[in-house]
Amino acid sequence: MTEKILQKFNIDAFQKKLIEWFQDNKRDLPWRHDQDPYKVWVSEIMLQQTQVDTVIPYFQRFIAKYPSLYDLAYADEQEVLKMWEGLGYYSRVRNLQNAVREVVDEYGGEVPDDPKKLGKLKGVGPYTKGAILSIAFDQPQPAVDGNVMRVLSRVLKIEDDIAQPKVKKQFEGYAEALISHDDPSSFNQGLMELGALVCTPKEPMCMFCPVQEHCLAFQEGLEENLPVKSKAKKQKKIHYTVLLIRNGKNECLIEKRPDNGLLANMWQFPMVPVDEIGRDHMANWFQMEYGIDVELSAKKGDLKHVFTHIIWQLEVVEARTKSDQAEDERLCFVSRDELDDYPFPVSHQKMMQYL
Ligand code: ADE
Repeated sequence: MTEKILQKFNIDAFQKKLIEWFQDNKRDLPWRHDQDPYKVWVSEIMLQQTQVDTVIPYFQRFIAKYPSLYDLAYADEQEVLKMWEGLGYYSRVRNLQNAVREVVDEYGGEVPDDPKKLGKLKGVGPYTKGAILSIAFDQPQPAVDGNVMRVLSRVLKIEDDIAQPKVKKQFEGYAEALISHDDPSSFNQGLMELGALVCTPKEPMCMFCPVQEHCLAFQEGLEENLPVKSKAKKQKKIHYTVLLIRNGKNECLIEKRPDNGLLANMWQFPMVPVDEIGRDHMANWFQMEYGIDVELSAKKGDLKHVFTHIIWQLEVVEARTKSDQAEDERLCFVSRDELDDYPFPVSHQKMMQYL
C-alpha cells in the first residue's frame, strides 16, 4: 500500500527541499540549542497539546530548575507539578518523572537509544519515541503527530480519516518510507516546522512552500480539504459547586485530589457534585463526606473549564466554618500566602481572585 502511494513520488528531491528549507528557516527555539536527549524529551512532552509560544517560558524555567535528568528524578512530585502549573494535562509530567526515575534505576541515568527500551518508558508513545530517537540520536525513525499527519495528508493526498488509530499507523509507514537517513533530525523537525509555519490548518501558505511541486493536494487544489478528520464525541458536562471555605483565622480549606485519574495529586477548593446532591443538602453532604460543618453564603461567580472528555461547569460559593483543623487526610487549612506553594489547576487558580 505504502509502495503504491509512493511509486511516482520523488523522495530524494522531497527530502532535499525540506531539509534545506528547515536549515534556512528554523525558529531559534530553546530546545534546539543542543541534542541532550533529556531536554529533547522534556520539550516534546511539553509540546504535546500545547503551543510553542506557551511552552518556551515553561521549558526555560523547568530546565533551569531541573538541568539534568537526575535533578528531575530526585525532585519532589508536588514541586514538579507546581512547575507544570498552567500547562495542563498534568499526567504528562507525572509520567515523565516516573520515566526518568526508571532511566536512573534501569539505565544508569542515560536515556536509552534503543527503540524498544525507550518505547516502554511511561508516557513515551510512538511519536515521542520517534522524536527523541531522530532529534537526539540521529536515528531514521518516524515521528508522526497531528501536524505531521496534516502535512503528509496533503503532500501525498491521503483522504483517510486521521482520527482513526489505524490511519495514524499508516502515516507512520509513509513517514518511515520518506525519512532521510542522512539527516533524520532535520527531516522530522522540517515536517513539524512546515506544519507550524506554512502548511497550517486553515489557509496554508502554499506560495511559500518548499515542497509545493511535490504536493499532490496542491496540484488538485485540495489542500484546504485535507486532512479528513472526523469530529470527536461531545464532552460530558458536569456541574459542581466549589466552596471557598474560610475559618475564624481566615485560612482557606483546600483538598488534594486522588493520586490517579484527572488532575491526580493536584490541589483544589472542595467541589460538591451539585446534580447528585442538590443545592439544599450541600452542607449536610459536606459534613458526611469531610467531617466539617460549613455555612454557605454568597455566590461569587461561574467558571467553565474544558478538558478532553469532560467540561466542568463551576459555581463558586463562599462559605464559613468554625473548624481550625481538618481530620480528613485529603484536606488542610492554609493561609492566603501559603496557597502559592500548592499546585492548582487553572480553573481553581482563577477562583483565588475571590478570596
Ligand atoms: N512540535 C512538536 N515538536 C516540536 C519541535 N521539536 N519543535 C517545534 N515544534 C514542535
